[in-house]
Amino acid sequence: NKVFIPEVFFTNDCLTGEDVVKSTRVLGDLDGVFQDKEAYGKMNKEQVVYHVSSYLPVLESTPGGLFMGITTLYSGKVGQEYFMTKGHFHSNSDRAEFYWGVEGEGFLILMDERRNVWAERMFPGSLHYIPGKVAHRVANTGYQKLVFSACWPSDAGHDYATIADTGFARRLVDVNGVPTLV
Ligand code: PA5
Ligand code: NI
Repeated sequence: NKVFIPEVFFTNDCLTGEDVVKSTRVLGDLDGVFQDKEAYGKMNKEQVVYHVSSYLPVLESTPGGLFMGITTLYSGKVGQEYFMTKGHFHSNSDRAEFYWGVEGEGFLILMDERRNVWAERMFPGSLHYIPGKVAHRVANTGYQKLVFSACWPSDAGHDYATIADTGFARRLVDVNGVPTLV
């Protein structure tokens, strides 16, 4: 009997194999994301904030398929605000998603269409259901890298424009060493 070896592998913080797409976001890609423009202006724009590797076994927009990704978000702050992902709604707005924590610590910040914001603590083994019509972004509040994984429908799409225009209604900042939504 033949034994098949999978074509895609995951290690703790990345995916490898065919149909895996990797992307990197440096500070310069996050212009306008952080509140403290002065602190942002002084920082090295080449500094890597996060990497994403995504396994896309079907074409983008295919109904009924699934994608999986692993994001590695480095530790750091811009002023008092923690390094975070850009954040997005889904283009097909009712599509949901799972995130789960793999390594490190942080918060998943969520915002519904009425701009109510809340946060869920992420840690190795934490599991997060992100309902449709809820924008999502992750902040690293620890001193090490934060690794989390995601699974989302292949026809969800990423709507970054809404968040680029209007942001999240609250931000996660360090207030005397305590991550606080303000
Ligand atoms: O599909 C997702 O929600 C994730 O894989 C994110 O795309 C990833 O964490 C990076 O965040 P963002 O897309 O907001 O830059
Ligand atoms: Ni998403």
